[in-house]
Amino acid sequence: MKILVTGAAGFIGSYVAQLLANKGAEVTAIDNLNDYYSPSLKELRIENFLRETNFINIDIANREDVERIFKNSNFDVVLNLAAQAGVRLEPQDFHKYTDSNLVGFQNIISHSVANGVKNFIYASSSSVYGNSSKTPYSELDKELSPISYYGATKLSNEQSAHAITRNTNTKSRGLRLFTVYGPWGRPDMAYFRIAKSLILDQNFKLYGDGTLRRDFTYVDDASQSILLLIENLTETNDRISDVVNVGGGNVYAINQLIDVLNEISKKKLSVTRRPQVNTDVLQTSADGSYLEQLTGKIPSTKLEKGLLSTYKWMSEEVDPEKLRLWT
Ligand SMILES: NC(=O)c1ccc[n+]([C@@H]2O[C@H](COP(=O)([O-])OP(=O)(O)OC[C@H]3O[C@@H](n4cnc5c(N)ncnc54)[C@H](O)[C@@H]3O)[C@@H](O)[C@H]2O)c1
Repeated sequence: MKILVTGAAGFIGSYVAQLLANKGAEVTAIDNLNDYYSPSLKELRIENFLRETNFINIDIANREDVERIFKNSNFDVVLNLAAQAGVRLEPQDFHKYTDSNLVGFQNIISHSVANGVKNFIYASSSSVYGNSSKTPYSELDKELSPISYYGATKLSNEQSAHAITRNTNTKSRGLRLFTVYGPWGRPDMAYFRIAKSLILDQNFKLYGDGTLRRDFTYVDDASQSILLLIENLTETNDRISDVVNVGGGNVYAINQLIDVLNEISKKKLSVTRRPQVNTDVLQTSADGSYLEQLTGKIPSTKLEKGLLSTYKWMSEEVDPEKLRLWT
C-alpha cells in the first residue's frame, strides 16, 4: 500500500507513520517543520519514528510542491494530519490557520481527487462541537457551532471533504480527535506544560480555575484507532464520506490532571492563575460507539497509566535543557 502522510513530523503523525511503515506500507511523509513549537522536537521525531519512510520537507499550502508530490505517485491512501493545531493563537496569527487548515487542506484533498486516490482520511477535531451541551458528543449531532476559528476551519474541512469527494471515486473520513496525549507529545498542551513545570520546578500558568474537562486519549490508542479506521475505509466498497470521534469517554478536569501528575512526580505543582481563554471549550466528551462499530474497540488506557509513561519519558529520556527549549 502506498500512503501519503502529511504532518508526519508532528505528534500524532509520527506515531501513525511509524505504525504504517512497520506494517509494510510504502510511506511518503511530509511536514514543513514550522515553529509553532520547537522544530528540534520535530527533527528528533523524524530520527526516531520516520526512518522507514521517505521524508520530504514541504508546505502543503504550496500548490506546486503538492503537485510534485502527487505526480506519478499513485497513492492508495492519503492521510492529512498537517494543520495549525491549538485554539489559542491571537487574531494577528489567524492566517496560520487559514494557510495550513484551509488552503493546505484544499490542496491535499483536490490533488487526491484529481489523482484518483481512493481513500482520503484527515484530522478534524473535537473542537467542531464548540460548547455543545449535548454530551457525550455524537457524530449524529448536526447542529455544530465551534467557538474558535481553529474549530471553524476543522468543521469547514468536514463540509469541504463531503462536497469535494461527492460523485468521485474518493472516499473520505474525518477524524474528530479528542485531546491526544503521551510521550513525544505537543509542548503547548496542558499535560505537557504541567509535567515540565514539575520536572523543572517551575511555576505553571493555569488559565481558568481548572474545572475545564477534557476527554483524554492516549496516543497509542489514538494511533491504533487511526490505523484500524484506514484499514476499514480501504476495505469497503461503499461510497463513504463520514466523520468518526476518536476518543473513549475518559473525561477528567484539568485539576484532576494536576492531582495525578503531582502524585506521579511526588511533588506539588506551584500554580499561578490566569483568566480563562475564551476559545477554550468548557468540556469535551466523546461518544465512541461509531468508532467501536468500525474498529471493534475504543481508546481505553487509563489517564494514570498514560500520564505515568508520559512523565517517565519526559523525566528520564529527555534532557532537561531540551525540555526548557521545547516549551
Ligand atoms: N493532539 C490533539 O489532541 C489533537 C486534537 C484534535 C485534533 N488534532 C489534529 O490532529 C492533527 C495532528 O495534531 P498533532 O497534535 O500531531 O499536532 P502537531 O502540531 O504536533 O502536528 C502537526 C504537524 O503538521 C505540520 N504542519 C502544519 N502546517 C503545515 C503545512 N502547511 N505544511 C506541512 N506541514 C505542516 C507541523 O509542522 C506539525 O509537525 C492536526 O490536524 C490537529 O489539528 C489534534
